[in-house]
This record gives sequence, C-alpha cells and structure tokens, in this order.
Amino acid sequence: MSNFKYGFPLNFKNWLDTNSHLLKPPVNNQQIWQDSDFMVTVVGGPNQRTDFHDDPVEEFFYQFKGNAYLNIWDNGHYDRIDLREGDVFLMAPHVIHSPQRPEEGSLCLVIERVRPEGEADALQWSCAACGTLIKRYEMNLKSIVTDLPPVYEQFYATSDEERRCTKCGEIHSGRDWQTWHRILKATTN
Ligand SMILES: [Fe+2]
Repeated sequence: MSNFKYGFPLNFKNWLDTNSHLLKPPVNNQQIWQDSDFMVTVVGGPNQRTDFHDDPVEEFFYQFKGNAYLNIWDNGHYDRIDLREGDVFLMAPHVIHSPQRPEEGSLCLVIERVRPEGEADALQWSCAACGTLIKRYEMNLKSIVTDLPPVYEQFYATSDEERRCTKCGEIHSGRDWQTWHRILKATTN
C-alpha cells in the first residue's frame, strides 16, 4: 500500500456534492486529481461558447446527467455530435470540437491525457456564415485551468476588423455566442 499517489477510492456522488458550486457558472469544471497522467474533470452546464478546440490527444466523454452536444469544424464544414444523457464517447485526436452545454445542472465526465512533449493544442475561431478560419492560437498545454483563459482573452480583445471573415466579410461576434450560434443555425439549416 505504498503508491497510492492519488489517494484511495473516493465516492463520486460525494465528490459531486462537495464540488457542486464549481460545476456551475462561472467556473463550470473541476479536475478530480492533480498531477496525474489522466486529466479527469467534471464539466457542468450551462456553458456555451464560440471557440473550437484542437486536441492532440483523445478525449473521453461520459454525459452522465442532462444533454449536451459538440459543434464540429471539419475544414470549413460544420457538424454536430449530440451527447445525450447516458452516452459515452471516445473522440479521436484533432477532431476540432466546441462543447455546448445549454442545460443548467448537466454534468459530464471528461478524461484527457497529459500532452506528450512538443504536441500542441490549439484554440480556433471560425466564421459562422461560411466556415472560414478566422484565428488559430497554438499552445503547449500543461494545465486546462490556467493555460486556456489567456488565449480566450487574447481573441476577445481583437477588434471587429481583425475578426472580419476574409472570404464573406461577416464579422465574428467574439465571445457573444448567442449571435454566433444564430448565424450558424441560419447557415446550417
Ligand atoms: Fe465568412
């Protein structure tokens, strides 16, 4: 019993009760164990967004309460993968995805690996009207909690002109996900 670096089994329901205040806005997620090779997090709703994530490693999802979905960006084409309550999903590396969690109180277990040295993550934003890539920022991600927010802030600080689509002229709405989703819906319907 010498190498229980991450502690003994914990009761998941008790952990959820203890951390429930962190699983809602503005934080929406909490990692269970620190400094482990598996980054095990629970992500709650409501949370909606305009950014897409390009992950160099696989991501496992267990949508154990409520429903959510992933917007998918595939070389300028959009798609949608539903995560219905009870679904498990293993996503391959480099599927460019944007998790949408519209339901208050929804909960999802997400597991990712620590990134191999030199394998970059990216966050990117694209035109809701035509799918053209607007901005992409690559980073060597060490911490989900601290490495991503500065990238969001960098994009949100850009001017309208910097967010104008070079193909169709539409201005990306930045952090305003309602506008971005409205345009996407009109585009994909
Ligand atoms: Fe466009």
